[in-house]
Amino acid sequence: MALESIRYERGSLCILNQRLLPQQLRYEPVPGVQRAWEAIRDMEVRGAPAIALVGCLSVAQELVAGGGPAGADAAALAAFVDERLRFLASARPTAANLEREAQRLRGILERGARTPGVTAQQLRESVIEHMEGLLEQDRAQNRRIGAHGAQHLLQQLPPGSGATVLTHCNTGTLATAGYGTALGVVRALHELGRLQRVFCTETRPYNQGGRLTALELQHDGVPVTLIADSAAAAAIRDRGVHAVVVGADRVAANGDTANKIGTYQLAVAARHHRVPFYVAAPSASCDPALPHGGAIAIEERPARELTHLQGLCLAPPDIEVWNPAFDVTPHELITGGIITEWGVFAPGELRQALAERGAAGGP
Ligand code: MRU
Repeated sequence: MALESIRYERGSLCILNQRLLPQQLRYEPVPGVQRAWEAIRDMEVRGAPAIALVGCLSVAQELVAGGGPAGADAAALAAFVDERLRFLASARPTAANLEREAQRLRGILERGARTPGVTAQQLRESVIEHMEGLLEQDRAQNRRIGAHGAQHLLQQLPPGSGATVLTHCNTGTLATAGYGTALGVVRALHELGRLQRVFCTETRPYNQGGRLTALELQHDGVPVTLIADSAAAAAIRDRGVHAVVVGADRVAANGDTANKIGTYQLAVAARHHRVPFYVAAPSASCDPALPHGGAIAIEERPARELTHLQGLCLAPPDIEVWNPAFDVTPHELITGGIITEWGVFAPGELRQALAERGAAGGP
């Protein structure tokens, strides 16, 4: 069975319940926003792009079913869509993508409402179509991220030689509409016949690396080795890692990047060993309004996700726990570059790239 995080056709949105992986492949219906909010909060669907896609498509579902304001008021439709997206974004606050999409939709609705002769029904349809188009847009952007990243990385290696990459968390098909961001770079290298191996970290405490990345890469025949998070520095030093490539939940204008907890320590280890460290993310993960990473809201997850593994308690039951879901890697440690659908930028070039090409959805 193909691994897809999201299955959508008009009137039907289903997600692969990632909490059950790798033991069970079960698709579950998401009939509307409330169920999407729960699925995002409980990490049945996760990864910044997939969160935004499921959020938007759950709103589309409600609009298709005739939800929202009746009648001809474009402002009321805009307010409805905005309120639903804000509510969805509250489920997991660190990722930028859903918020960026809400901004784009506000623009679409405002322009539509100002266009003479456009009816509320047409406006509703254009919002639904826009949201439906996001799946294909995400897949296309990921292919471009993969191609740019692979090309840039290979330029640092002797001609014809293969690359060994280390990655963290899950940034693949399961975190996106398909192909993936950092895993898109890995897939592109593999398609070029230039991937020696990818090391994927287990990614405690939620084990996205062990449960998801290892599963989807093995499923697709990509040479992958699973390591404990605590083996990462040793793998970088002793296993010939040429580059570390990770995803992003929110990239500030100066390039500081929030990503899965543990990313920062990988960047420190990469710097120590002079191994290039890349962030791969669509422009929709970038937040040009945020000057630096210190301003990024870092989600903290329940203690139980750290103390328990599949119901088994691994710590004293009343132990005090700090369980941040993400950390911020300062831009100076992102030595390889930030790989977007537009190309690869040094962190210092990102602000201008975003200003010139638009923060989300440019070609
Ligand atoms: O807590 P998660 O699993 O949603 O965290 C996912 C990550 O940190 C990913 O690296 C990021 O969202 C990019 S996914 C393409």
